[in-house]
Amino acid sequence: MRFTKKDILDIHSLDPEEIALILDTAMGMKEISQRPVKKVPTLRGKTIVLFFQEPSTRTKLSFEIAAKRLSADSVAIAKAGSSMAKGETLIDTVKNLEAMRPDVIVMRHGSSGAAYLVANRVDCSVINAGDGIHAHPSQALLDMMSVREKKGRLSGLKLAMIGDIAHSRVARSDIAGFSKMGAQVWVCAPRTMIPAGIQALGCTVAPTMEACVADADVIMMLRIQKERMNDILFPTEREYAGWFGLNRDRVALAKKDVTIMHPGPMNRGVEISSDVADAGYSMILDQVTNGVALRMALYYLVAGGSRHADTD
Ligand code: CP
Repeated sequence: MRFTKKDILDIHSLDPEEIALILDTAMGMKEISQRPVKKVPTLRGKTIVLFFQEPSTRTKLSFEIAAKRLSADSVAIAKAGSSMAKGETLIDTVKNLEAMRPDVIVMRHGSSGAAYLVANRVDCSVINAGDGIHAHPSQALLDMMSVREKKGRLSGLKLAMIGDIAHSRVARSDIAGFSKMGAQVWVCAPRTMIPAGIQALGCTVAPTMEACVADADVIMMLRIQKERMNDILFPTEREYAGWFGLNRDRVALAKKDVTIMHPGPMNRGVEISSDVADAGYSMILDQVTNGVALRMALYYLVAGGSRHADTD
């Protein structure tokens, strides 16, 4: 199968065959990170710009490490220290980046839709590393990779997702991706954190946390995103943890072989207790490991794979 997309902007625009191709390619890439010399020449001569206008640890570093493992040259630009701090617009900034002939721009931006705006204005590939509350496709793809690796399938699994659904681009992308691949996605949060119409993305809203995690194959906890809240949406963190925090008693309601996930960063003691986050059934750090391989696969497919086979 040829991967023909120029950009990776969201999960909605990927069909199940394309998602399966990305996950298969990522599994192949994972082996490279296990070698003593973790580098292949696949993307030698390609240039990747990391354009992050919001903080990031996992996403930015894994996109950077992924570029290095494929021998691409990567450079980073942020608002601080660039001419955006002097008032240069987003479009002027990316047109100037494009003039330097990169092959891929990886961008994170606080505004939903920013990656689409940029992708429509530049000829190089754009990978959305998170836009506002809208989409975080590489996170959803690494989450699907991690679950498929652990469980051997996605279809038929029950994924329980609990937390700040309203402000979570991870939730929107994971709901779209897992449901597209045949999993049943259940969500739960205080009613102030459940957007109206979220069911249309392909999920069921559970009335209680207990109903959400009951018989779940996978539980994914989400962070409360205070930085995106204009109002107070719950009384106290202590009360939130009591109603919606994942502890051992609630894990016991899920399937015996349940897997616990979190995209990070975690608020320990709020949405997840430390004993759960650090238990053997937690694959939170495996998600981070797989994030490097998944992002290597995205680079390969948009900048070095079959899209460019005729010019290789
Ligand atoms: N999961 C995630 O997007 O983490 P960072 O914000 O650290 O990149």
